[in-house]
Amino acid sequence: MATIAVLPGDGIGPEVTREAVKVLRATAEKFHLALTFEEAPVGGTAYEAIGTPLPDHTLAVCQRADAILFGAVGGPHWDTLPRNIRPEQGILALRKALDLYANLRPARLFPALVDASTLKREVIEGVDILVVRELTGGLYFGQPKGIQTGPEGERGVDTLVYTRPEIERIAKVAFDAANRRRKHLTSVDKANVLASSELWRRIVTEVGAGFPEVRLDHMYVDNASMQLLRHPTGFDVLVAENTFGDILSDEAAMLTGSIGLLPSASLGAGVGLYEPIHGSAPDIAGQDAANPIAAILSAAMLLEYSLGAALAAAAIESAVSRALDQGYRTPDIQQPGTRRVGTREMGDRITEAVLAGGEA
Ligand code: IPM
Ligand code: MG
Repeated sequence: MATIAVLPGDGIGPEVTREAVKVLRATAEKFHLALTFEEAPVGGTAYEAIGTPLPDHTLAVCQRADAILFGAVGGPHWDTLPRNIRPEQGILALRKALDLYANLRPARLFPALVDASTLKREVIEGVDILVVRELTGGLYFGQPKGIQTGPEGERGVDTLVYTRPEIERIAKVAFDAANRRRKHLTSVDKANVLASSELWRRIVTEVGAGFPEVRLDHMYVDNASMQLLRHPTGFDVLVAENTFGDILSDEAAMLTGSIGLLPSASLGAGVGLYEPIHGSAPDIAGQDAANPIAAILSAAMLLEYSLGAALAAAAIESAVSRALDQGYRTPDIQQPGTRRVGTREMGDRITEAVLAGGEA
């Protein structure tokens, strides 16, 4: 019996997570997996109910679970709260507490969506990129951090720091991933300006000596953001520090048509966390308009990485493909001639496709 901690969070988080759980239940039944779900509050919702974005009870539920399914956190309502109790602390503190340092964000284009992107078909056809984002270091967590008042007035400080062990472990994850794919790794940095990047580049190169079959390129982050739009099929695995990875993965998502499509897995030594890369989208929350595919594909990654159920994961991925092939589209990926559906119906169509798919 595997226990899944479910943290729906804020905005569209609960809506998309509900569909992911629906698909997971159906998949579990079909593949004879015993799953139980334990829901816990996080983000602004937890702050409202309990006064903190990551209640102790929620952390405990996560720590004893076999995997975590996370929705989204944040909203304008809480934007003026002090940083340490903002909803975003719910996810940031969870990543840190569980040492989830490796964030895998696969951006693969579904053939049915080749015309849904804002980019030309000939540029994006065949896009299949894995962004490996370092998730527990860099500017997000470096000390000192904060706003102080000095003689010159206010001063905002963030610290970009990386240690050798932090770089080595994320580099290994990236090389391993590249080894299982097309054996091409692009390491992104700003080594022409930043000391942390200079060390990053040196250590990634060192780690690469242990992976002679993987071709390693280094690219400055500004160039990488341009190459992603110019020639995205030139990338296989891309590895970057926390902030660069945050930015580049949103860009990679748009290559596939919508940010509503990209799942992620956050891995460390223990329990893994799975979440769509999109945010809480407060502007469309509660309207049955959000795309649940990123959350559903995150559930597929959960089955694969935390439960070792690769066949069940593949069944969800092909069910998503099938629902898209059948023309079902949430508003973010709608085009003429397709059938517009809401969050729930998209979840239902994908569930049906799982159940109708090949035998387990
Ligand atoms: C992401 C998000 C988060 C991040 C926010 C919500 C803190 O943008 O997962 O990409 O910056 O890591
Ligand atoms: Mg982001």
